[in-house]
Amino acid sequence: MTTAKNKITAASFGPMKKKGEKIVWITSYDYYTARALDAAGVDGLLVGDTLNMVVYGHKDTLSATMETMLRHTEAVSRAAQTAMVVGDMPFGSYQTSDTDAVRNAMRFLAEGGAAGIKLEGGIEMAPRIRRITEAGIPVFGHIGLTPQSINKFGGYRVQGKTDVGKNYLLESAQALEEAGCFSVVLEAMKNDIARKITESLTIPTIGIGAGKDTDGQIIVINDIMGVGEDFMPKFVRQYFNYQAKLREVGAKFAADVRSGSYPNDAESYG
Ligand code: KIV
Repeated sequence: MTTAKNKITAASFGPMKKKGEKIVWITSYDYYTARALDAAGVDGLLVGDTLNMVVYGHKDTLSATMETMLRHTEAVSRAAQTAMVVGDMPFGSYQTSDTDAVRNAMRFLAEGGAAGIKLEGGIEMAPRIRRITEAGIPVFGHIGLTPQSINKFGGYRVQGKTDVGKNYLLESAQALEEAGCFSVVLEAMKNDIARKITESLTIPTIGIGAGKDTDGQIIVINDIMGVGEDFMPKFVRQYFNYQAKLREVGAKFAADVRSGSYPNDAESYG
């Protein structure tokens, strides 16, 4: 049985970066998925607000609520023996004021059982992140293509294509480190700027669509399992076709029921 001593925390990642050990994060939204991924030895489980899309079928992450995020975070936290669990702060839960941000971040730890929170934003969000880290809450930063800002970006666009864009990302990453983030997600950006950020920070960078030179990678579990069949970004490596399997299993069960072969005697109480 795993003891609390083995639990990965926000403090575990800096030394991993120093040793050059790649850090593995995967999103997780429910108890049994989290239990399997934890047993598989991933370092961190992010209860991402992507759940609004990949679990609830919304077109973006903007309508995710605190209550939904907390419910899923609690389920994942119950399952994780070793991996660090981080809850993703939904749109509207931290943009309004420092007070709202700290209060809502605390709920992820107190009610969701998480060991930290993630929120989106660059240099302009650094003072708010400082308030949260000062309250003793580990913060996972997130810059680059930040999906809660799609209306500002005009869609899901790769970031860091211009010198101005690259400078903004580098300054943002440095401001987030200074504000006390334990790590930062670099999403959908050119490889060269992701590499430069990674070299300039002491905290680990975790890439998603940011090339191979970050300190670790994060991916959406439903994407690599092939749960959905809609648009897949080019950085997704699909390991399984869950959607096709589900159709196969559903059709087999329907055929067995309709033919009368299910249930048989062994599957009945007699
Ligand atoms: O919400 C999420 O799942 C995320 C990851 C893709 C980094 O923010």
